This record gives sequence, C-alpha cells and structure tokens, in this order.
Amino acid sequence: MKMYETRNYDTLIKPAGIDGTVEAARLLKSGEVVAIPTETVYGLAGNALDPKAIAKIFAAKGRPRDNPLIVHAADMEAVRGLGLEVSPLAVRLAADFWAGPLTMVMKKVGDTVPGEVSCGLGTVAVRVPGCPAALDIIKACGFPLAAPSANVSGAPSPTKAEHVYADLKGRIPLIIDGGECEVGLESTVIALEGDKARILRPGAVTAERLREYCEVVIDEVVYKDFTGGGSAPSPGAAHRHYSPKARVIAVTADSDEAFKAVAAGGCAIADPEARTLFAKLREFDEQGAKRVYIKLPEPNGAGLALYNRIIRAAGFNVVKA
Ligand code: TXA
Ligand code: MG
Repeated sequence: MKMYETRNYDTLIKPAGIDGTVEAARLLKSGEVVAIPTETVYGLAGNALDPKAIAKIFAAKGRPRDNPLIVHAADMEAVRGLGLEVSPLAVRLAADFWAGPLTMVMKKVGDTVPGEVSCGLGTVAVRVPGCPAALDIIKACGFPLAAPSANVSGAPSPTKAEHVYADLKGRIPLIIDGGECEVGLESTVIALEGDKARILRPGAVTAERLREYCEVVIDEVVYKDFTGGGSAPSPGAAHRHYSPKARVIAVTADSDEAFKAVAAGGCAIADPEARTLFAKLREFDEQGAKRVYIKLPEPNGAGLALYNRIIRAAGFNVVKA
C-alpha cells in the first residue's frame, strides 16, 4: 500500500462540552482534522467540502484511496444542500431514523461534495449522527463533516477516546472525549434503489426494522469475502477490517459447552456484544493474546451486524464446533 506523510502533532484530548466544541470547530474551520465521538464509534472528522481536509483524513488513517467516506450533516435540511438525490424513501427513513446510526447512499446530482469524499463514485453516503456532542460540533462548524472511523486503517474501530489516542497519537491535533460510544458498531449502510433499500453494512438499524418501510435486500457483501478481489458493491468490503494483532477465530457452536471445548487454551468471547466487541479485541492485544475465539451469533436481527464484524475480524476464518 502507498505510504502517506503526516505532520507530527501534539495530540490533545479534551472532554466533550462547550470548550471542546469551540476548539474542535476552530481547528476544523482552519482545515484540520479532529476525532469526535458519535453514538456508533469515534470518527476522524474533516470539512466534507474541503479536498485538503479530506486528504488529511486519508493520510492520518493510512486509508486506501478507493474507500469513500461518510458525510455527517446536522439535519435533513443540510443534506438537501449537498446536491444529492433525496428520494421519497430517504425522506421517510430519515424522519424515523435520524439523528441515528443509519447511513444512506444517495446519487450525486451536483458537485457540492468533492470527488475526494466519494472516491469518484457517482454516490455519496450521508448520515445525521445521534450523538449530541457530534451534532454540536457539526453545527458550530456550519459545514458537514466527512468522518471515517478514527482508527488506523484495518484496526478495530475505536469506541473510547483512548483507542483513538493509541492509533492516531501524533497524527492529529485533537480528540474530543465523549466517553464510551453507546452503540459500539458502525452505522447501518444502505444504498437506496428507488423504493428498495440494499444493506451494504449491517448495524444497529436492522433489516427487520427497515422492512417496516420498504423492500430490503441484504447484499451478499454482508456475508461474503471480497478482500481477495472481485467487484465489491461497497468499496470498504474489499479491504481488511477490524483486525486486531491476535488471530481471530470465529466459531459456530450449538452450545456454550461446544464453544468452550474449541476455545480451550485461547482467549475467548463467548457472548459477544456490539458495545464491547471492539474494545475487547483491543484489550486482548494489549495482553499480548495470540488467539481469540469468538462465538458467532445467529446472522439475523441485531446479531447480523455482530456476525458481519466478527467474520471480518477473523479474516473469514470460521470454525464449526
Ligand atoms: O458509524 C459510522 O458509520 C462511523 C461513524 C464515525 O459515523 N463511520 C464509519 O466510517 O464507519 P467508515 O469510513 O469506517 O466506513 C464507511 C463505510 C465503508 O465501508 C465505505 O466503503 C462505505 O461506508 N461507503 C462510503 N461511501 C460509500 C458510497 N458512496 N457507496 C457505497 N459505500 C460507501
Ligand atoms: Mg472504518
């Protein structure tokens, strides 16, 4: 992969609140990047309308240049100003799921969002985050923020400010500490296709809930390994993800006993939960764990998002107990 150059910063951590918001907005307005809390995971934010700020995001994360960013806006009104096709279905979904962990991929009909954000695709992914600290910062800036998860590319997403610090110390000027993220897994990403929604990345907004509004297709990318090549419907799927240093083994098991028998001798997560999964993977790394066994949940309801992250963390290495 191409290497990027980054400036050397003294990385400050400030608590979420008025002072933090003012300082974050000052830096973001000057074209800098700042890590901010959201309800899903911490994001590395920059002015979504400024190609130079976008370049800094890619550089700080070491993110592959073909993996587009999510634009975070203050509300639907702000989304309407971005030159995107806001379909009637998008309006219905936004009314009930925003502010919250649902990202919608919309067609570009103008050039407001620079090509650097969407990596030249004809679409842009947008969401209105539910976390008050994130919304305050977006509003204080007066422009939308592009923000991928604030981890070094490939590592588990950060759910605490200290995770961001561990990954991006020296590469960014400021981290706003909003405590532990409420959801712990990244937002649900859907592509809008007329009156249909296609799930590209499962999250806290489940397929079952979306089906109350429209036809829902779960794209094969949710289950399938595209890291070896092939044209993935969501560019992110083509890259290694959520991988700690330890080797992760995903285990399908009919009982806790069967799981324990397989996991014997290694570190284990017998009952994975969205909120703590990524933090546990990071803790095991700190302890120098070589192998981590994780019991796979059923791939439906809230379990689908966990299932999707665990098989990726395991590099699609799934063992039957
Ligand atoms: O919860 C979240 O979504 C967090 C917080 C910070 O908001 N952000 C996040 O961003 O997870 P990131 O960059 O780590 O993941 C964005 C995902 C990637 O899989 C990317 O490929 C996909 O969204 N994506 C972005 N723009 C897209 C587009 N135009 N079409 C299809 N997929 C897109
Ligand atoms: Mg990410």
